[in-house]
Amino acid sequence: MVMTGPWLLYGANGYTGELAARLAVAQGHRPILAGRSASGVCALSDELRLERRLFSLDEPRRIDEALAGMSLVLHCAGPFSRTSRPMAEACLRTRTHYLDLTGEVDVFEALAARDQETRAAGVMLLPGCGFDVVPSDCLALHLKGRLPGARRLALAYGGFGRVSRGTATTAIEGLGRGGLVRRGGVLTPVPSAWKARRIDFGEGERTAVTIPLGDLSTAWHSTGIPDIELYFAAPAVLRALAVASRYLGPLLGAEPVRRFLTARVRSGQAGPTEEERRRGRGFVWGEVEDDAGRRAVSRLATPEGYTFTAHAALAVVERALAGRAPAGFQTPAKAYGPDFVLGIEGVTRTDL
Ligand SMILES: NC(=O)c1ccc[n+]([C@@H]2O[C@H](COP(=O)([O-])OP(=O)(O)OC[C@H]3O[C@@H](n4cnc5c(N)ncnc54)[C@H](OP(=O)(O)O)[C@@H]3O)[C@@H](O)[C@H]2O)c1
Repeated sequence: MVMTGPWLLYGANGYTGELAARLAVAQGHRPILAGRSASGVCALSDELRLERRLFSLDEPRRIDEALAGMSLVLHCAGPFSRTSRPMAEACLRTRTHYLDLTGEVDVFEALAARDQETRAAGVMLLPGCGFDVVPSDCLALHLKGRLPGARRLALAYGGFGRVSRGTATTAIEGLGRGGLVRRGGVLTPVPSAWKARRIDFGEGERTAVTIPLGDLSTAWHSTGIPDIELYFAAPAVLRALAVASRYLGPLLGAEPVRRFLTARVRSGQAGPTEEERRRGRGFVWGEVEDDAGRRAVSRLATPEGYTFTAHAALAVVERALAGRAPAGFQTPAKAYGPDFVLGIEGVTRTDL
């Protein structure tokens, strides 16, 4: 379905923004490319023959001017802990739908807290349109459908291949903050890598440890299941580092350490190569349990994470442009149902 409504892709010169922009054009869309860095945005918009808007997120008036007449923004500039708020506020002022690629718990929670004013404005706020959290959010709601009385939900990511500079920078922002789970509906601090379990993502068991990512927010909003744990299948060295970070928390959170790590990341490769994206796969696993001990387990296999992210984000854009943009704070599964993820090429779901 190719729509004509004007929409803005902000952060177009970033690794993921560029992937989304190229895919959008390949699918017949004409997004207006935007960002704060003239060189990157101009080069891409010239090459793709797309209109552009250059603005930083520091001046509300300039963001409002750039959003005038737009149906929606696909916000690809992160860490979203720094970028989400000014863009979301501009979207509320200008009545523009807001979509982003965050996976950060605090960002989801901050946007969820604006549900009432967002509904009143008739605007949709839909963060998490990428690999984190579209598959896991859809899987969580699917599992809730399989076991409606579920009280406990565990979700797990089967690891990543190479991550982009932006993903690594965003991870550095969260260093030293410890772990999180949801207990009785409340986000509850726990030590880093608090629990470990063996999980079969479909290719044999691997060890996964708890991590504090966005599903601790979205799965709660999508399913209402009160106890949620999120796991990540990490190599032994990363698991050991996560445990060590319990004791290094203040050091890792210190500004000079963050600056050093961020500089190292910025000097590295932008993200996975085309070949790595073509060969990579993503795996998500989920389990629900009720108070009678009944359990259900399902899992998803997806294309590589960044490829998936570009496709998923555009699938959301198309629905929103077609008028399927329920007002208020939304999660992918709440807005489009548990089977939304199955419409993305290369995704399979298995019920065990
Ligand atoms: N949920 C998911 O599955 C998923 C998937 C992919 C990416 N992401 C997230 O998306 C974000 C971007 O990732 P990436 O790989 O594209 O990173 P990247 O290549 O480093 O690009 C980052 C983009 O964000 C812009 N940006 C950063 N801080 C900004 C600020 N304060 N104001 C305005 N623009 C700012 C950058 O602009 P400049 O060039 O001007 O600095 C650049 O356009 C990260 O937070 C990453 O974690 C999430």
